[in-house]
Formats: sequence, C-alpha cells, structure tokens
Amino acid sequence: MKNILITGANRGLGFALAEQFSQVGFKLLLVVRSVESKQALLSKYPLADVLVCDVTDDHYELSLVNWLENRALDVVINNAGSGTKAPTLESTESFFLKKEFNTNCVAVLSTVKGSLSALKRSSAPLIINISSRRGSLTMQSELAAKGSGCSYSYRVSKAAQNMLSLCLADDLEDFGIRVVSIHPGRLLTKMASKDAHMTPETSAKKLVNLVQSGELKNRDFISLETGKLPW
Ligand SMILES: NC(=O)c1ccc[n+]([C@@H]2O[C@H](COP(=O)([O-])OP(=O)(O)OC[C@H]3O[C@@H](n4cnc5c(N)ncnc54)[C@H](OP(=O)(O)O)[C@@H]3O)[C@@H](O)[C@H]2O)c1
Repeated sequence: MKNILITGANRGLGFALAEQFSQVGFKLLLVVRSVESKQALLSKYPLADVLVCDVTDDHYELSLVNWLENRALDVVINNAGSGTKAPTLESTESFFLKKEFNTNCVAVLSTVKGSLSALKRSSAPLIINISSRRGSLTMQSELAAKGSGCSYSYRVSKAAQNMLSLCLADDLEDFGIRVVSIHPGRLLTKMASKDAHMTPETSAKKLVNLVQSGELKNRDFISLETGKLPW
C-alpha cells in the first residue's frame, strides 16, 4: 500500500484529495490544525493517521519527523494555503504578505524537511506543491492577473513557493525525488476566485489520474484546467 501525506485535509481541495486518493488505495496521513478536524476525518477514515498542527508553527517540522517515525512516504501534497482579499497597494498590508509567505511558502519548506527521510524510503517519491496560476511570473508579466482582484500577498507568496519548488527540484533529483507544482483550477471552495467553476472533487480526480499515470516529471508546473504553465 502506498502512503500519501496531505496538509490542510479537513476541507476544500485537501478534503477532496484525501477522498480520491483513499479510493485508489492510498494510506492517508493527514495534517490539520484542530482536534475537531482530526475527529471528523477519523470518523470518515478510521485507518488514517492524523497530525494536529498549524503548518506555520515553529515546532511543525519536528512534530512531523516524530510523527512519521520510520514510515515511507510515496506522495507528499503541500495543499494547506491561505489568501487575503487585498488586491491593491492601498488595501494591502505588510502583515498580509508575512502571513501568506509563512503559509504558502515557508510551511512548504517545513513539510519537505520534516518528510525527507520518509520520502527517501519510497521507491518513487513525489512532492506536489499546490500552487496557483497567480504564482506565475511569466503570466503576471503578460498582464494575466491585472484587474483580477487577486491579492498582492497571494500572488507574491505563490511566486515564492514556485521558486522554492524549483530550488527543491534541483536538490532532490539527486535522491530520485520529483518536485512538481500544480494549479488545481478555479475551485468552488472558501478561497474561490471570482471566476471559480470547478468542484474540488473534479480537481482531485484529475490529480489522482496524473499521479497514477506516472507522467509527472521533476520541475513540471501544470494547470489541471489547461495543462503546462510557464513559471
Ligand atoms: N480555490 C481555488 O480556486 C484555488 C486556486 C488555485 C490554488 N488554490 C490552492 O489550493 C489549496 C487549497 O485551497 P482551497 O481552495 O481548498 O481553500 P480552503 O477551502 O480555504 O482550504 C484551505 C485549507 O488549508 C488549511 N490551512 C490554512 N492555513 C493553515 C495552517 N496555517 N495550518 C494548517 N492548515 C492550514 C485550512 O485549514 P483550516 O480549516 O484549519 O483553516 C484548509 O484545510 C491552497 O494552497 C490554495 O492556494 C486554490
């Protein structure tokens, strides 16, 4: 049985990913930040292991190492993410950038460092960072986000996450670990954009199919709506 770790698994895309990966036989290792979320997930998936931790906490990386012990991890999905509705220079605050940078970028580094020994125990390890089309510097430079209402903090933090993904891809390919970045689509979740239209279930099914196909390559940046994206 393959093992998958998913952060932010209590709602939205993370919840749908847990369901879809469990349906194809993955053992679930889930990270959530409340005991209530843990209990709800365990009542649905009694065989899952659930860690309660805020991914931005200082002790998160060490908690992950201790929790994973000697297990192997085949897939790690950095899904937990946050956004702020402050799309203009006037409305944005430095605090928003710090908060989103911590959740959308620094926490991804913590997850990877905390999971690294477990990933190295897999025969085909894969890290999937849930990014966004809004993290693409190329698309931003082509005005794709102008007037979209997407916040500074979200765009900046997802662009930072993308650079982190590429740094990790350089380092981890020597260990046979692939690092890919995924835009999951415009999803009907709490974080929905103005043009959201896709259910998280549809998005999660597409990602399961991609993982199962074995086609994901190190350094891929893929939209589940349109295919390959420019970094
Ligand atoms: N929705 C979209 O259209 C869209 C588009 C592109 C990319 N994405 C990305 O897709 C991912 C999932 O988003 P979603 O649409 O499913 O949004 P969502 O419904 O708002 O879910 C966000 C998840 O992240 C968790 N989370 C946030 N901060 C956390 C923290 N500090 N520690 C632990 N967990 C934390 C939340 O847990 P709590 O319930 O405890 O808050 C929740 O489970 C995010 O990375 C997002 O940026 C979404």
